[in-house]
Amino acid sequence: MDHTELRKAIACMPKTELHLHIEGTLEAPLALQLASRNNVSLPWNTLEELEKQYDFSNLQSFLDLYYILMGTLKTQEDFADLMFAYLQRAHENGIRHAEIFFDPQVHMNNHIPFSTVIKGLLNGLDLGKQAFGITGGLILCIIRDMPVESAEAVLKEAEPYAKDLIGIGLDSAEVGYPPELFEAVYRKARQLGLHCVAHAGEEGPADYVKQALDVLHVERIDHGIHAYDDPELVQRLAQEQIPLTSCPLSNKRLKVVNDIRELPLHEMLQAGLRVCINSDDPAYFGGYLVDNYMALLENGYSLEECATFARNSIEACFISREEKDTLLADFDKWYEQYVK
Ligand code: ADE
Ligand code: ZN
Repeated sequence: MDHTELRKAIACMPKTELHLHIEGTLEAPLALQLASRNNVSLPWNTLEELEKQYDFSNLQSFLDLYYILMGTLKTQEDFADLMFAYLQRAHENGIRHAEIFFDPQVHMNNHIPFSTVIKGLLNGLDLGKQAFGITGGLILCIIRDMPVESAEAVLKEAEPYAKDLIGIGLDSAEVGYPPELFEAVYRKARQLGLHCVAHAGEEGPADYVKQALDVLHVERIDHGIHAYDDPELVQRLAQEQIPLTSCPLSNKRLKVVNDIRELPLHEMLQAGLRVCINSDDPAYFGGYLVDNYMALLENGYSLEECATFARNSIEACFISREEKDTLLADFDKWYEQYVK
């Protein structure tokens, strides 16, 4: 297959997205429009000036811009529009189910009520489900470099909406903010019936991945690239089939690795790890999910390996066995046509 045919094949491959920050889908032109509509003053007035800010040196340099642009989201409609726009893109990327992060503590700091954020996002999800048939839901992310009391407060706000949430996650600046800080928050989230995931091993060490498993009892690890530094942990992740939501373009743009070829994803697959591919913050990192798969294909990964990532993305969802089998049946048809 040539490049165009491969791209078409990847775009129609049934898959899910499990590591996607909805605020990370806020494209620069929309951020400027929202700033003007909502009377938010930004340090940059033109698209040209703003676009110069996307050359990141590490996770923090990205977060600095990400949090500023999040300040342009104000109304329930803003959140609904952002979600609907993502689901449209997701549909074009062959995504059948999405479990989507949001960062309510940052919006609450910007004086947006929790209810405005969640009602807008849920409304956008409903509209996207109707329009594109995509299933999915929300994972409330705790900002790990804000005080633990702030995490407790947002969870309290979320309690009345617990049935509308899939789970709880942990994101933002990793190094210096180990998972164990959030033991009580995760205990409470489990009592509310939420699934548990956490970013770990993105910039932080393999030990943070272990803490996320042992102290927070997470069912999935977001990123987890540094888990590969610890052979015993690799064995455990394989044995327990803990999914890792890897984000290649993100890792490259945030300089977790210098080059996609440095990512240990071949080795992880070979070790039997349940790795899947995701776009993280696609408006910031140069591409949506198909672009992430294409970056892998351009850097030594085979279509067979990409198919394994997609199959893993289905197995790693928080949906019933029956729902997984329905998606897998479609995936198998695709596999017959394009790989076998
Ligand atoms: N928030 C949004 N994207 C993130 C990432 N890749 N790591 C940590 N926090 C984030
Ligand atoms: Zn992330």
